[in-house]
Amino acid sequence: MKIMVIGGGGREDAIIKKISENKNIEKIYALPGNGGIMGEATCVDIGAEEIYKARDFAVKEKIDFAIVAPDDPLAMGAVDILEEAGIKCFGPDKSAAEIESSKVFAKNLMKKYNIPTAEYEVFSEIDSAMEYVKTCKIPIVIKADGLAKGKGVIIAMDRDSAISAIKEIMQDKKFGDSGNEIVVEEFLEGPEVSVLSFTDGKTIVPMISSMDHKRANDGDKGPNTGGMGCIAPNPFYTEEIAKRCLDEIFVPTIDAMNKEGRTFKGCLYFGLMITEDGPKVIEYNCRFGDPETQVVLPLLESDLLEIMIAVREGRLSEDIVKFSKKSACCVVMASGGYPNEYEKGYEIKIGKISDNSIVYIAGAKRKDDKLITNGGRVLGLTAIDDTLEGAVSDAYDNIEKISFKKAYYRKDIGSKALIEAL
Ligand code: AMP
Ligand code: GLY
Repeated sequence: MKIMVIGGGGREDAIIKKISENKNIEKIYALPGNGGIMGEATCVDIGAEEIYKARDFAVKEKIDFAIVAPDDPLAMGAVDILEEAGIKCFGPDKSAAEIESSKVFAKNLMKKYNIPTAEYEVFSEIDSAMEYVKTCKIPIVIKADGLAKGKGVIIAMDRDSAISAIKEIMQDKKFGDSGNEIVVEEFLEGPEVSVLSFTDGKTIVPMISSMDHKRANDGDKGPNTGGMGCIAPNPFYTEEIAKRCLDEIFVPTIDAMNKEGRTFKGCLYFGLMITEDGPKVIEYNCRFGDPETQVVLPLLESDLLEIMIAVREGRLSEDIVKFSKKSACCVVMASGGYPNEYEKGYEIKIGKISDNSIVYIAGAKRKDDKLITNGGRVLGLTAIDDTLEGAVSDAYDNIEKISFKKAYYRKDIGSKALIEAL
């Protein structure tokens, strides 16, 4: 089989490494891929958002199956366009991808179908939004409606920050048209859990739970990033919570999407908060998370490509998805300064990594056989062990064997989880 993977980050490296275990694959193309992905796949110079070019490439190369990983091409309708050209795909179509690409749609869906989430108001006029935040409860959360590279959520701890957030989004158009509408939402508290799930629109199979670490600095301080590290499983996601999530959130969401005529097929990601009133949805993503994928997929014991094909064909069943009982920890190594200004172009040196560890490359390119930094999040190192404690400690032992100038990583990935687990 010839496979095409759209995307070029650490998540795509993890997807490619996992599907490579399938014996029927003769070739994998990554569009655009990155300098680290080159081992398992042929990188093609077509950007993840150049979906018509991707379609033409897929038709020319007679691609048997395509995996659309990032949010932007999914929101742009990459799956619809590829399928129309006869290319079989893993991923939701444009109408189902709206569960991520429009927060207003997602919130209204949850309200209509009684799926637990934060209380909210939607505004399309700046004046009424301003009036509202003058009297609402503080802290308050302001969210741009559309995609904003993970930066469209502002937690305002006081009224002035809420007002400036609204101005930035609606007046200065910091996130372009994504800020034409905003969601102003109740501030929730509690541990966060990410649950990725496979669904073919009839069956939903949650994967092993995980915990992202979104803030740049130790102690969950500093600006939000794409994710600085991750652990799985998440000890806050107990069996009891998992059962409630399945009954109160996961299955109702699939049913709701069907009722709206937007059957979701692909990976549906639930960003959850375990509040005192029970689990609530913080966000939906219509794709695998990054860096969640880098801890979840190494623990998957089944054939990922077979699951993806079954999802597309509506043949998903619990039995074809098996996870190991082990734990994983991924520490992201970034260019110093990320998520703000950072330098790139430095050589990455990778020493001998232990057998229970994998390096996933994200922001790097190849130059004369050398791997050179080329982005904010440069790589992630995932270690697997029987215990979470072992996985965290091995991840840190191994990441020390990797170096590049101005490298930065958090030193406390997994520490909150370890306190809960012990
Ligand atoms: P999102 O991009 O929607 O995942 O939001 C980014 C982060 O903002 C989340 O991971 C949460 O930590 C935080 N967040 C989003 N919505 C809320 C909320 N209603 N209450 C508290 N924190 C939130
Ligand atoms: N790690 C969060 C995300 O992928 O959106």
